[in-house]
Amino acid sequence: MTLRLDKFISSQTGITRSEIKKLASKNKIAVNGALIRDGSFKIDPENDEIIVDGEKIIYRDKIYILLNKPQGYVCAVEDKKEKTIMELLSREYRRKDIFPAGRLDKDTVGMVLITNDGKLSHKILSPKNHIPKYYLVKLDENFNVEYVNKFKQGVEIDGGEVCLPARVRGFENAETTALLEISEGKFHQVKRMFKAVGNKVVKLQRIQMGGLAIPEKLGIGEYIEIMHKDVEKLLYTADFDEVFSIISKKFSSYWINI
Ligand code: URA
Repeated sequence: MTLRLDKFISSQTGITRSEIKKLASKNKIAVNGALIRDGSFKIDPENDEIIVDGEKIIYRDKIYILLNKPQGYVCAVEDKKEKTIMELLSREYRRKDIFPAGRLDKDTVGMVLITNDGKLSHKILSPKNHIPKYYLVKLDENFNVEYVNKFKQGVEIDGGEVCLPARVRGFENAETTALLEISEGKFHQVKRMFKAVGNKVVKLQRIQMGGLAIPEKLGIGEYIEIMHKDVEKLLYTADFDEVFSIISKKFSSYWINI
């Protein structure tokens, strides 16, 4: 496979073609050790060594970034008013082709996948696939055990929409906190589900999607690049009781700094 040098650099780094032109004119672009000033120069992305402004460009076709989203950022590629989660990524990840696979509200914290893999993103987001998503929920009022059955039957949220059956369980010794599993992604769904049963969500954190949990060592606002084989765990199912038992053991660490 051969590609234009400027196209390759811009797809891998997000540097615009006009910036690339300037860099090339200043002798800041090298291919296999030779300075190249012509953006249309043909390269083999898998075998050639491309250096831009002293940095080696590592060729990646598909990219998967797991972000522990902080509050105050919107899940969008661009936004005229709000800060976007893309601003949290270092330059090497600000490629033109990446986007968040799914959304969390501005005030929600936790797991977001950012990728350029449209096929995988479609699989994760397709309502048909029912990928379970796990949320730690801090409520305004105490958790009521009646929520378990109400959510299991499919709670009706405002506007008359009925949610798919969901699982929920309160934590012992933390009366206002619960783990919720839902397998769809309606707008503000978790907040609306608890509103429907007379409570209010005051803190929300997504901790797992399918079989992929957010690594415990990943602080709020931090991200890691993961491999395709790991990202596929998103498509596995998980066992609610197992997730609950794991989370109960390390539970307090999850709420720190939110
Ligand atoms: N449900 C919500 O209400 N908000 C989120 O950010 C995610 C799920």
